[in-house]
Amino acid sequence: PVEETLVLVKPDGVARNLTGEILRRIEAKGYQLVDVRLIEAELDLLSQHYAEHVGKPFYEPLLEFMQSGPIVAFRIAGERVIEGFRSLAGTTDPTTAAPGTIRGDFGRDWGLKVQQNLVHGSDSPESAQRELALWFG
Ligand code: CMP
Repeated sequence: PVEETLVLVKPDGVARNLTGEILRRIEAKGYQLVDVRLIEAELDLLSQHYAEHVGKPFYEPLLEFMQSGPIVAFRIAGERVIEGFRSLAGTTDPTTAAPGTIRGDFGRDWGLKVQQNLVHGSDSPESAQRELALWFG
């Protein structure tokens, strides 16, 4: 099915000037850019976005990290784009994410309490709908 998903270029990705490279990979794969925003995310938005992680050891550092600079949000569309973008992004831990993926090519461990892994992509149709409403609603 044609789907839409939310991609976030996190503060580390924006600060490292990787926004264009990340969009280039999305477009090269054949997905469509539908909307884009640059956002300095507030606590309220982030706590809703990361509600499922409340109580985990990296939760507080994660919210702090996500407020450390601007985020670029993409709404992208395509057949199976939710799964497809997560494949482009690579696995959560950038140290072991496969080379060829965004996290595998550009990410690493910086010895911090939270993994700075450059991008976020919604993990299911339900998450995509919920997260798109939060970031583009
Ligand atoms: P994301 O896909 O945005 O979802 C939650 C984020 O928390 C994740 O990317 C990482 O940035 C971070 N994260 C997930 N697991 C861990 C972990 N074990 N240790 C530190 N940070 C993590």
